[in-house]
Amino acid sequence: MRVEARLLALLRPHRLRIALALVCAGLAAVGMGAYAFLAGPAARALVQGGSLDLGPMLEGVLPEAVAEAFARSLIGAVPMLLIAAAAFRALASAGFNVLMSHAVVEAAGDLRARIYERLLRGDPIFFSRRGSGELVSRLASDIATVEQSGQQVVVTLSKDVSQALALLLVCASIDLRLLAAAGVVVWATVVPTRRFADALRRIGKEQLAALGEISHQAEQMLRNHRIIVAYGSERHRAGRFEEANERLLGIMRRSLLWRAAYTPLMEVMGVIGLAAAIAWAGRSVLSGALPPESVLSFAAAALMLYQPLKAIGNLGQQLAHLRAAAERCFELLDAPDATMDRPGAVALSAPREVRLEEVTVRYGEKEALSKVSLRFRAGETVALVGESGAGKTTIANLLLRFVEPSEGRVTFDGLDIREGTLASLRSHVGYVPQETVLFAGDARTNLSCGADLPLERLREAARAANAEPVIEALGGYDGDFAEGGKNLSGGERQRVGVARALVRDARILILDEPTSALDAENDALLQEAFARALGGDRIGVLITHRLRSVQGVDRVVVLEKGRVVEEGSPEELLARGGRFARMLALESRTAA
Ligand SMILES: Nc1ncnc2c1ncn2[C@@H]1O[C@H](COP(=O)(O)OP(=O)(O)OP(=O)(O)O)[C@@H](O)[C@H]1O
Ligand SMILES: [Mg+2]
Repeated sequence: MRVEARLLALLRPHRLRIALALVCAGLAAVGMGAYAFLAGPAARALVQGGSLDLGPMLEGVLPEAVAEAFARSLIGAVPMLLIAAAAFRALASAGFNVLMSHAVVEAAGDLRARIYERLLRGDPIFFSRRGSGELVSRLASDIATVEQSGQQVVVTLSKDVSQALALLLVCASIDLRLLAAAGVVVWATVVPTRRFADALRRIGKEQLAALGEISHQAEQMLRNHRIIVAYGSERHRAGRFEEANERLLGIMRRSLLWRAAYTPLMEVMGVIGLAAAIAWAGRSVLSGALPPESVLSFAAAALMLYQPLKAIGNLGQQLAHLRAAAERCFELLDAPDATMDRPGAVALSAPREVRLEEVTVRYGEKEALSKVSLRFRAGETVALVGESGAGKTTIANLLLRFVEPSEGRVTFDGLDIREGTLASLRSHVGYVPQETVLFAGDARTNLSCGADLPLERLREAARAANAEPVIEALGGYDGDFAEGGKNLSGGERQRVGVARALVRDARILILDEPTSALDAENDALLQEAFARALGGDRIGVLITHRLRSVQGVDRVVVLEKGRVVEEGSPEELLARGGRFARMLALESRTAA
């Protein structure tokens, strides 16, 4: 769909308001036309005295007697009439502004909500590849640009166009040949705008991209500030920012130049047309072909035309701006979404058996898992071990459908999980990611993730994960975590993350390196908590590098370069003396 069509679709829900706004714009335009029309006769009457002689202008429009009486009564009323016309126009204008602005602001609000929603539900792998700074910039500044330039565009299209039409109509009623001259003005102003508009659109898009890059750099710097300072790479970072900033400045300079050239060009064109019209009119008055008040009215209309015509001339520029920002917004809305509910997706129930069947996962060219087949049964805890990059986290991602198999399938009780809804799938999974992230906000929200759960349940989970002391230290369940839990130690954060997973009481519990940041004592405590949490019907998936902590699990799966190389109970594997046994021996030696 074209950008314009999509923008119009955004305005659709507000069409009633827009229709009213257009009526107001029409009324305001009528008021303006009346101004211009009355200006000539009023000026002549005021200067010469006598009646407000609308005769020549209204000839043929009203019967002569009526026109005369009307004119006579008008002369005394001219000041009142002016006030009335002004008030009428002001009211209509205000009505238009309020109605139209509301419609646009709300449409932009809808767009903002849709993009946020889109990011929220988006494919986590896709979005993790984009800088979040850039995404935030799109959400904030691109939509603001859409809102602002959208506002200008609709105002121009409705108010300025209707005013221009009304004034042109006045001109037409006075003298068609004069209007032809005015037509030349319009033509002369509109034609050269196209090339300008194209150039400005390109520049506008470049400018927004450069701004996005700047937010991305700033975000990277703020997020990784400690690393930057610790490794003394301030200079390198400053250089990269400087580059991005310089690029933006270059674009801005070009944009300013184009803009600076644009407006004067329009003005000169307009004045040339106006001058031609005046010359023509002067000759017509001298030859007696036109009454002077008509020329006055015409001149008034022509002068009043300047502003709306200028706005219409700028339309191309505004549209270019609008389109550039809107394209970037729609790009986000159209971002590929590998993981969406299929049509007719069903709610998955808690599985008794989860299987990976010949699953291959590729990230682009790279194969992270190759034909992996695994089985997890209710009541069983499986440890995934293997060197870094072996594909352990990828298996967790598969179970959560953060990634989908490039080949093969993942099933819950024989049903491909792609046949189920994401919400139901994820309601059966408690997940502690490799890097525990907490939200800015209180402990209660961090544990419940916004679900309405009794405090007792949160407490139980926190106790089980040994996170209660951490929460108490922050001032209880309403105490605040600073952004990302930055006011906590790595191990404390991890304990809260585990508590969060336990709160869900889900069938599958995936712990990706849950103890990596824990000391020996807390590690032991957490082991106990797992044993408790993983009892019953749970399917436990424990990803870890500490092989000592897998002694109690039912089965160990050893991964290497995306393949399963060993599988069995810890005892079996030890007895076999294969990879697992060697890795464990190595670990004991280094620990000793
Ligand atoms: N989003 C991604 N895009 C591209 N490649 C990826 C992505 N995520 C992981 N990979 C690659 O896939 C392979 C498996 O990664 P995975 O995260 O599953 O390893 P892992 O076993 O969890 O390692 P670790 O123990 O270090 O956490 C790695 O080679 C990694 O570089
Ligand atoms: Mg990992």
